[in-house]
Amino acid sequence: MPSSTRRRILTTAATAVTAAAAPTWLSSTWAQKPQLRTTPGQTEGPFYPLTIPADSDFDLLRNGRVQYKRGQPCWIEGTVVDANGVPVNGAVLEIWQCDQAGHYHHPGDGGQADPAFQGFGRAAVAPDGHYLFRTLRPAPYSGRTPHIHFKVRLDRRVLLTTQLYVTGDPGNERDLLWRRLNEQDRAALTVPFMPDINGLRAHFPIVVQV
Ligand SMILES: [Fe+2]
Repeated sequence: MPSSTRRRILTTAATAVTAAAAPTWLSSTWAQKPQLRTTPGQTEGPFYPLTIPADSDFDLLRNGRVQYKRGQPCWIEGTVVDANGVPVNGAVLEIWQCDQAGHYHHPGDGGQADPAFQGFGRAAVAPDGHYLFRTLRPAPYSGRTPHIHFKVRLDRRVLLTTQLYVTGDPGNERDLLWRRLNEQDRAALTVPFMPDINGLRAHFPIVVQV
């Protein structure tokens, strides 16, 4: 066999080996990729709605046709991804919180919540992982620092139940649930609410174990 032909065969064989090896190399690189830390869970609390209200869309500042005008309006946006950073396709986010006077739409809270405040909302996570809510900068109520309850669902499974806090709120240091969090968990669940168009804006990225 002429040496040039043999060289060609060897080169072709080497390329084939490299091509065959590529998926293994890629998958081992993927396996070594650092996993994202999952968002810590927290208690659901006593005020998750007993029945889902008729208006339960992403805009908590408008209940039916009524606009809620108290407190500080804000946008809350972020992403829902798994530990590999992949958007969780089909996930649904739920949030619930008290009105500016500190009342939940729940019989356990005496039915005192303002009917103009929606109090509970749902948003589908977009295919790229993003979500958006229009709501109120959370207000304090007896014994708790301002917070918003979050739940992530995928089909019939609950992937996460937690609470979001406001960076720098003086009530945080006095709040039993916030104080129980270690430093990393506080950082994951406490975000700044910064001035933006039409109110404040908070970015809350969520990582779940699917
Ligand atoms: Fe609460």
